[in-house]
Amino acid sequence: MNQANPSTRVIAFDAYGTLFDVYAITAQAESYWPGQGAALAKTWRDKQIEYTRLRSMAGPTRYKSFWQITIDSLRFATQSLGLAMSSAQEQGLLDQYAVLKAFPENLAALQTLKARGLSLCILSNGSPEMLASAVSSANMDGLFDAVLSAESVKRFKVDASVYQLVCDRFGCSPAEVLMVSSNCWDVIGAHWFGFKTFWVNRSSQPLEQLDATPDYEGRSLADLLL
Ligand code: LAC
Repeated sequence: MNQANPSTRVIAFDAYGTLFDVYAITAQAESYWPGQGAALAKTWRDKQIEYTRLRSMAGPTRYKSFWQITIDSLRFATQSLGLAMSSAQEQGLLDQYAVLKAFPENLAALQTLKARGLSLCILSNGSPEMLASAVSSANMDGLFDAVLSAESVKRFKVDASVYQLVCDRFGCSPAEVLMVSSNCWDVIGAHWFGFKTFWVNRSSQPLEQLDATPDYEGRSLADLLL
């Protein structure tokens, strides 16, 4: 692939927002609370990320799995929007979150990269069970050489110990890894660690003001193949 530096040996993919569409739950939320689906999806996601950062900053004793954080943040999001959520509705949204749909171009792009002989992995805050379920329901089984979860270090991105998981698993240096993420803050965390980075900027978001820029940028995973 041209987007990767010739020294790239491993491509690490973020999961949520990059491979799997976290806003795929919007329609179901909308059916529960007409007019509020998009707000619920956004507040849920923002709060989920905020809780990972707070718990990571507070240290291992405050760690909770990403799945539990996903539940906590859903409860906060509904309360903050004044939406009454039954346990059946909560379960309905969580069931869908466990099998979030993949962006349409992803499967073919991953298959092409795999055929080019690159090592592929997922590097995600997600709990191992969530990731296994999402990978399997997207028919991505067998495409990844490793599915690496932040759970093994009980910290979340952008803690360096999470990015280090890729180097430990593949016995490579950070410069040999290309991190692909739609989350600009994750791209910058990966850059700070020393990875090469590709920002999948699906919705023309502005660059985060964190004194760093991605090495590459595209609109979808298909742009990785250019
Ligand atoms: C992940 C979140 C950050 O998969 O999207 O790590």
